[in-house]
Amino acid sequence: MVTIALSKGRIYEETKPLLEAAGIVPAEDPEVSRKLIIPTGHPGVRVIIVRASDVPTYVQYGAADLGVAGRDLLVEHGGRGLYQPLDLGIARCRMMVAVPEDFDYPAAVRKGARLRVATKYIQTAREHFAAKGVHVDLIKLYGSMELAPLVGLADAIVDLVDTGSTLRANRLKAVEEILAVSSRLIVNPASLKVKRAEVLPIIEAFERACRG
Ligand code: ATP
Ligand code: PRP
Repeated sequence: MVTIALSKGRIYEETKPLLEAAGIVPAEDPEVSRKLIIPTGHPGVRVIIVRASDVPTYVQYGAADLGVAGRDLLVEHGGRGLYQPLDLGIARCRMMVAVPEDFDYPAAVRKGARLRVATKYIQTAREHFAAKGVHVDLIKLYGSMELAPLVGLADAIVDLVDTGSTLRANRLKAVEEILAVSSRLIVNPASLKVKRAEVLPIIEAFERACRG
């Protein structure tokens, strides 16, 4: 049995056509079903539904053979024990530093100010600011980062930006790009060896579907 770890929402929606191209049609819609293990029309393949940030962990430990995860989460996870054969080009966005519209970020950096930065990407943010020589106190949040500067919790945030509408709605502006983000197919290296005959055709079908 091959297990594929996916998260609900945009990853599932954008991965569904790739799964179908590989002949894998989940028996239930995870947006509706409360089941966490979903069989598929393919007798040798099942899908498990986990939090987006947990997908790399399930694949790293071999609880899933394959998964789909955003580059933001893979960089934050560190990528240990993960084979990343394919950029699927889905769920594209950018990881950015953002501040209130009236905050002079370049001046604060020039002055060597110590900035409070709220983010769910603690490791990635730490490396980014260390490489720039910017002093920061990092505050871990799990969502709605855009709120933090509005209520005095932080001077800046590190978060994902796509259309920019969430920033605009909260009178924030992006000042620095950290990463271009899209989702990757990730594979447990041991699964690729032991279940090669089942796993390789799925990788190849995803590859063909992406190219198409
Ligand atoms: P978790 O449930 O683990 O907190 P989440 O709620 O952030 O994660 P999603 O919002 O489904 O999960 O995001 C999954 C992935 O989709 C992210 O890791 C990122 O790669 C990508 N993504 C997030 N926001 C956007 C966006 N606005 N536009 C395009 N892609 C995005
Ligand atoms: C993501 C991200 C931003 C927003 C950016 O949140 O965390 O808040 O999208 O997209 P935009 O630039 O097009 O406005 P999401 O919609 O996934 O909500 P959640 O992570 O809080 O669930």
